[in-house]
Amino acid sequence: MIGLPRRNRTQPTGTQHPHHTEGEDNAAALVDDPAQVSHPSVASEGPAGARVVVRGLAKRYQLTPEVTITAADGIDLDVEPGQITAVTGPSGSGKSTLLHLIGAIDRPDAGTITVDDTEVTTLTRGALARYRRGIGFVFQRYNLLPALTALDNVTAAVLPYPTDFDKKSRAAALLAQVGLAGRENSLPSRLSGGQQQRVAIARALIGRPRLILADEPTGNLDSHTGAEILALLLGLRDTEGVTIMIATHDHQIADTADTTIHITDGQITPGPVTGASAIDTAP
Ligand SMILES: Nc1ncnc2c1ncn2[C@@H]1O[C@H](COP(=O)(O)OP(=O)(O)O)[C@@H](O)[C@H]1O
Ligand SMILES: [Mg+2]
Repeated sequence: MIGLPRRNRTQPTGTQHPHHTEGEDNAAALVDDPAQVSHPSVASEGPAGARVVVRGLAKRYQLTPEVTITAADGIDLDVEPGQITAVTGPSGSGKSTLLHLIGAIDRPDAGTITVDDTEVTTLTRGALARYRRGIGFVFQRYNLLPALTALDNVTAAVLPYPTDFDKKSRAAALLAQVGLAGRENSLPSRLSGGQQQRVAIARALIGRPRLILADEPTGNLDSHTGAEILALLLGLRDTEGVTIMIATHDHQIADTADTTIHITDGQITPGPVTGASAIDTAP
């Protein structure tokens, strides 16, 4: 998985072109019975990943009357369905802000975010809650509930909602898919960082998201474990066709993503021109 070929990379104008197609024939059958899970996919019957179109996105934080931070400064971006986009850039450049705006955790000051047919910035409260349910979030610090088992952490994400699947059996199947069969009843404190992140990925998947937003998902992991988490995310793109955006400092991710964008001071910029960085211009 790690050795997948590079696809098109830095496209700073937001005009990336899709190269990834192999996952599209792969929208595997609905599998809610964990006994049926014999291969690493708990795919939904649903369509492939979401298309994300961002135009003129701006977000400012007024720290004091004199000091304003512009965390997003006119971002234009096209994310193709079923692609992995790495969002790179120095600390404080606006990576998390971009993911939070797309995930409707935060509201922009200007601009539009269109996810498939939904114009996110105009949604009312109830519609926003439904929109967020279609997104899987993965965080650097896993954000698991410490008193809940792995299985209950996964089901918790959909507990308040009616679903067309059995929550526990789908959660168990997802835990198996992320390599945690047999650990359903473990508390987070009994799991390694990499295992906790696997639980968090299973939790992100349970609502059948068309878009996964991962904010430095390997930032707390050693490089070997980070590579395993990256392989897991690549597998999800290939088997589920889900669209994935990853804010990252991890060169492995930037190298392997279908598209890499670079952010500086809230603007999409060409990557570093020189240096050993793998996050640089296309070959
Ligand atoms: N809630 C907030 N209040 C004030 N400033 C914020 C807030 N969130 C982010 N910022 C500022 O916005 C800028 C971009 O932050 P962020 O998106 O977290 O960057 P990154 O994820 O690339 O490290 C930073 O200068 C940060 O301090
Ligand atoms: Mg961040």
